[in-house]
Amino acid sequence: MGLINVDQEKCKRDGICVAECPARIIEIPSKEDCPSPAPDFSDFCLKCGHCVAVCPVGALSLDWLSPEDCRPVKPDLAVTPDQAEQFLCGRRSIRAFREKTVPRNILEKLLEIACAAPSAKNQQPWHWIVVQEPEEVRRMAAMVIDWMRKVIQSNPEAAESMGFTRVVAGWDKGNERICRGAPHVIIAHCEKDYGFGAEDCALAISLIDLYSTSIGLGACWGGYFFKAVNAYPPLAEALGLPADHLAFGAVMVGYPKYKYQAIPVRNPPRVTWK
Ligand SMILES: Cc1cc2nc3c(=O)[nH]c(=O)nc-3n(C[C@H](O)[C@H](O)[C@H](O)COP(=O)(O)O)c2cc1C
Repeated sequence: MGLINVDQEKCKRDGICVAECPARIIEIPSKEDCPSPAPDFSDFCLKCGHCVAVCPVGALSLDWLSPEDCRPVKPDLAVTPDQAEQFLCGRRSIRAFREKTVPRNILEKLLEIACAAPSAKNQQPWHWIVVQEPEEVRRMAAMVIDWMRKVIQSNPEAAESMGFTRVVAGWDKGNERICRGAPHVIIAHCEKDYGFGAEDCALAISLIDLYSTSIGLGACWGGYFFKAVNAYPPLAEALGLPADHLAFGAVMVGYPKYKYQAIPVRNPPRVTWK
């Protein structure tokens, strides 16, 4: 099998695969020719699968991906602009959860969706840690508070500016502002030296946040939580974070207690048109 396999009968020589290839490593030497790999194909292929998925007639296969491997885009499932607007603007950060755990297969689905996020050069650098047990979430939230107490002692100014004093005071009165009583926390992490870890992990977590809304779950970014993972070794150890990795985001997930009736107002775009 070659790097690119083209069904000569099906191929329309329309050049769509050439135009859509992000690395520009597919060539059609002349009008009569079928697409073929450029000499540096193997060096630069991102393995994004676009060439296979964009071909209108399913003529192109890669040695690792055929049209049959790719799920079809179903026109009847397309969302209308109004649906998309309500879905995107109606997503909320959820901070009150029911005492009900999310089944494992649904957590797996969230991760599957997260992995469909865009990533720089299609590197998909994310790894995941799922804290499944609500008691473990509680224990780890307490560790975040331990970390905050240490920061309050060692650097009161920084602690104050990050709101730690209030959060810890609230915790001491039974107000859990770290994981918000969610039954699960999902942490995205990747190699600490990778240049696009923050962007790629944030995008993947965003998809968890959005998809959660669509299946009746609620989610909320755990900003305090993931900062503590990187700053407080006992928490990183409790999670089993690899030594050469950093957490780039955490999201609490569970069944929301309340339903939002309206969409709150956000600032208009601050934009410079050039
Ligand atoms: C990077 C990041 C960190 C956040 N950290 C927390 C957090 O630690 N606790 C929390 O309750 N909400 C957290 N949030 C949620 C924001 O407070 C929330 O997105 C914002 O108030 C807007 O509300 P909305 O998401 O419902 O539109 C975080 C959001 C982001 C993007």
